[in-house]
Amino acid sequence: MAGKVYVVYASLTGNTRKVAQALAESVGGVLVDVRRDPLPRLEPGDVVFVGDGVYGGRPSRALRRALSSWDLPQGVKAAVFGTYGGRPSQLPVLERILQAKGAQVVDRFACLGRDWFLLGLVGRGRPSPQDLEAARNFAQRVVR
Ligand SMILES: Cc1cc2nc3c(=O)[nH]c(=O)nc-3n(C[C@H](O)[C@H](O)[C@H](O)COP(=O)(O)O)c2cc1C
Repeated sequence: MAGKVYVVYASLTGNTRKVAQALAESVGGVLVDVRRDPLPRLEPGDVVFVGDGVYGGRPSRALRRALSSWDLPQGVKAAVFGTYGGRPSQLPVLERILQAKGAQVVDRFACLGRDWFLLGLVGRGRPSPQDLEAARNFAQRVVR
């Protein structure tokens, strides 16, 4: 693999951060928390993972905001990921945003995350060690 790997994410209650860390660790990627870090300037040949939880059926405002002013090289390889309580409906939204910027979205990954909107009763213990293992495999598949 020629380029660099970036894992760009937002995580309001910490679940997606765990997945982002597993992805970055698995493929030597640079973690970028959009609520804290500036977005990187990508080069052709780089790979970018973009992920979030889902809040009211959408990605967070923080991530949508950050992505809205981000330019990507045409055809850059991208993959989307996330955690959810009921349904990962943020993924198609993220996918469309990236495609509209000319990225090639090659894969997607989602797992349950403990849901604090439902008082932490749903998704206890998630993402689990098995979820994180599946996330690492996903990362390797994308980067290969
Ligand atoms: C305010 C709020 C709204 C949520 N809305 C949804 C939703 O619409 N659909 C869903 O599947 N999960 C929903 N969830 C569950 C989160 O997507 C889930 O817990 C996810 O793992 C959170 O990711 P994070 O910890 O990285 O922020 C919601 C959680 C919160 C706190």
